[in-house]
Amino acid sequence: MTYEPTLESVRAHVVPDWFHDAKLGIFIHWGLYSVPGWAPTTGPLHEVVAREGWQGWFARNPYAEWYMNSLRIPGSPTASYHAQHFGADVPYERFAETFNRDTLSWDPSQWADLFRRAGARYVVLTTKHHDGFLLWPSSRPNPFRQGYHASRDLVGDLTGAVRDAGLRMGLYYSGGLDWTFNDRVIADIIDLFMGVPQQPEYVEYANAHWKELIDRYQPSVLWNDIGYPAAANLPELFSYYYNAVPEGVINDRFTQAPVGDGPPDPAAIMQAIAQGMLPAPPHFDFRTPEYAVFPDIKAEKWESCRGLGYSFGYNRNETVDDMLSPAELVRSFVDIVSKNGNLLINVGPMGDGTIPTEQAERLEALGAWLAVNGEAIYGSRPWTRAEGTTDGGIGVRFTRKGSDLYAILLDTPQQPQVTLTGLTIPAGAGVTLFGYGDIAAVQHDSGLTVTLPSPLADAPAHTIKIAGGAA
Ligand code: GLC
Repeated sequence: MTYEPTLESVRAHVVPDWFHDAKLGIFIHWGLYSVPGWAPTTGPLHEVVAREGWQGWFARNPYAEWYMNSLRIPGSPTASYHAQHFGADVPYERFAETFNRDTLSWDPSQWADLFRRAGARYVVLTTKHHDGFLLWPSSRPNPFRQGYHASRDLVGDLTGAVRDAGLRMGLYYSGGLDWTFNDRVIADIIDLFMGVPQQPEYVEYANAHWKELIDRYQPSVLWNDIGYPAAANLPELFSYYYNAVPEGVINDRFTQAPVGDGPPDPAAIMQAIAQGMLPAPPHFDFRTPEYAVFPDIKAEKWESCRGLGYSFGYNRNETVDDMLSPAELVRSFVDIVSKNGNLLINVGPMGDGTIPTEQAERLEALGAWLAVNGEAIYGSRPWTRAEGTTDGGIGVRFTRKGSDLYAILLDTPQQPQVTLTGLTIPAGAGVTLFGYGDIAAVQHDSGLTVTLPSPLADAPAHTIKIAGGAA
């Protein structure tokens, strides 16, 4: 099918099976901010905003990839750190020298290999974050900063390695913020929307970049951030993309604020953010809540993104205490999948491309769990309900594939007899525990009682498969 540059035509695009099936992607935030790799460990997004408001968030922003903005907020911890370690008059752009020198010896195949072992099926790399630095040698260089791009084609080199490892490659581009085009300091939420460059030169620049990224790398995901200039013709860009990559998917952060009618309505923005997402644009393939969890299955396909800790970019201040434990990571992933989501878990490499050990360990743990339990995850779909519980109070999450039902216990029961409360299965359905084999199951009025092997090895989550249980 050929897409026309109209909203109606691009809206006919259907989310492809591969994206529903994939479940796990790796997000990579890598750029000049990875060189200082520093932010205060203020806390997780929604908690900080609830506690301190948006001004508090931006003043002590735990997102290390926001270094350039944080630096410009007088009295911020980042401003003091920068003055102390580099000198107050050393401009942020200077980090390009170190970044471009150190990335020459980076080996993309090591990353791709780790991501494959983690069980990821796709990768999304920041090609340009809010600081405007480009990770590929664009034919449309930054008009305000000479040589403000990677000296090596980091996007191309990673794309090649990721595809060689059998994964799909997606690209992130900050269409909504580029501090080289609009240097408004973001100190409150309204600045985020007013900070979107709206001048015709920027519209042209961002469109040219997206098209160049599509032509050169055929990305499987267009992952835009923050928003997009109001004057851009997005149906034109989207049809260009779908015609080049019909199986590609577009995220929901191409929102265009109305210009001319004043700033966007803060109340509407706050309401959307309180639900974990920015207001949606007219067309998208999937929603992208950030650091958010939901109680129920969502009808729209969604992808949860978050850092392993409180930051996307590498933050040298983060310790394992600031990060999800391997068990929390697995459980949160299962929770997301049971509710129709994918997890785009973020890795923040150091400037030279080293992935810190604590981050790699967490990815490996996910991979180890998936090696045993992946059948309940990949290619699954939500069942009629996502959540359940055992008689002992252990959380249960359900997924389904065809007529098979998977009940995933989010902890290791201490007793061999466990009842899955309220669960009824067809008589004679085979019940197995992944990693062990067949187990006995007895149907009661109150639920399904299973007898687990004893002792049962400790694991973040255990999968019980009920053949034909979803029929
Ligand atoms: C954001 C942030 C950011 C990060 C991201 C990932 O809104 O500004 O730094 O790239 O989204 O979801």
